[in-house]
Amino acid sequence: MSDYDVIIIGSGPGGYVAAIRCAQLGLKTACVEGRETLGGTCLNVGCIPSKALLHASHMLHEAEHNFAEMGLKGKSPSVDWPQMQKYKQSTIDTNTKGIEFLFKKNKVDWIKGWATIPEAGRVKVGDDTHTAKNIIIATGSEPSSLKGVEVDEKIVVSSTGALELGKVPKNLVVIGAGVIGLELGSVYARLGSEVTVVEYLDHITPGMDAEISKQFQKTLVKQGLKFIMGAAVQKTETTKSKAKVTYKLRKDDSEHVIDADTVLLSTGRRPFMDGLGVDALDMVMTDRGQIQVNDKWQTSVKGIYAIGDVIEGPMLAHKAEDEGMACAEQIAGKHGHVNYSVIPGVIYTHPEVANVGETEETLKASGRAYKVGKFSFMGNARAKANFSGDGFVKMLADKETDRILGCHIIGPMAGDLIHEVCVAMEFGASAQDLAMTCHAHPTYSEAVKEAALACGDGAIHM
Ligand code: NAI
Repeated sequence: MSDYDVIIIGSGPGGYVAAIRCAQLGLKTACVEGRETLGGTCLNVGCIPSKALLHASHMLHEAEHNFAEMGLKGKSPSVDWPQMQKYKQSTIDTNTKGIEFLFKKNKVDWIKGWATIPEAGRVKVGDDTHTAKNIIIATGSEPSSLKGVEVDEKIVVSSTGALELGKVPKNLVVIGAGVIGLELGSVYARLGSEVTVVEYLDHITPGMDAEISKQFQKTLVKQGLKFIMGAAVQKTETTKSKAKVTYKLRKDDSEHVIDADTVLLSTGRRPFMDGLGVDALDMVMTDRGQIQVNDKWQTSVKGIYAIGDVIEGPMLAHKAEDEGMACAEQIAGKHGHVNYSVIPGVIYTHPEVANVGETEETLKASGRAYKVGKFSFMGNARAKANFSGDGFVKMLADKETDRILGCHIIGPMAGDLIHEVCVAMEFGASAQDLAMTCHAHPTYSEAVKEAALACGDGAIHM
């Protein structure tokens, strides 16, 4: 007799969702977590705290830039950094305690400590060994390192350190113009830092539809962020309170140095499996160091599954959650699945940037005939009233069948708007299906409908 039907290692969005679903499906479930609180990177040092800072700094930006024109007079608020940190912490606490409550409610045991898997069926935590018919590895990811750059979490920080700086830095240099660098760069730019982003490529946000990426960079430049593009960071050197960042321009190999009070290293993340013992298990890994799984999230070792950032695919909390749910269902003998072609991505800057499905670049590369429907938020009444006219919706549909293939939005509430397109894509809808669906007026979502109309006979308000 095993102690458990399932032991999940890691309580991030993948792990805790898998644990709750396993328990709901009648499986005796435990989740091992070594942190003091549940929720993994996302709730403790990722998505949730960064969103609190993004929200607070956006409020400041609104007060500074738009209040007067809306007829709201008075002294502009100023930054009380310790209080903003407290607000961020209370957001984390509410969410992590929420998971603890859900574990109790669903009778999921929380085994506190760091787990090792000595063999299939056994999980060692400290001096205790627990047995389980099934094990799910959901141990997430950690920031990648960069040669020559030593992260001390004080002057040179990863995303974790960037969320709890002692003060708002005067100068912030961000290495890497990906999601983390731009979200946190935006926060500090709004709070008054001079932010310079150094990026290896000649465009920001790799993988994003190029037209949206260009517009996004223009918007960020308008907001005060500076970009040094085509620049490979070579090293950082720190003194007691400052850093020097050396980079080489790819076009001519010339070397340059910039000074910074704080440096954020955000050049990607890698799977986290420290101490887990996967090497000794002889588990098959991908070339990129992820755990290889089949379409049921089974690893090469019978009885061991893996989900989330430790396996292939975008390192996104919601992708891990869906895998957690589907994997639990597979273990329970049901038919859980994840549609990897409909996974939205969102960057929570202001305006937000959201995408799902194909980009124009991936469609061109595959040779598929497509059409484009675009609609600017300048033509959307609600956006204009709310000073949110910057940005547009770009819908991509199959040229012959009109089936929606992808959608890219830069604009207000893009991260929420994208989901009607996700639902439409799940159901194999055409752009016309979406265009013929009545959208309430005045809402931002009318811009999505108009982009769908633009795939056919044309948008109305453009
Ligand atoms: P990223 O992979 O998104 O971007 C890293 C950037 O660094 C790339 O543009 C790359 O060209 C650049 N780079 C690499 N080496 C460099 C060098 N030596 N010098 C200059 N630039 C260099 O990585 P990021 O932003 O760290 O995010 C990691 C993961 O976390 C991503 O998979 C992302 O999806 C996920 N994430 C998602 C969020 C969201 O969905 N809102 C929020 C935060 C993280």
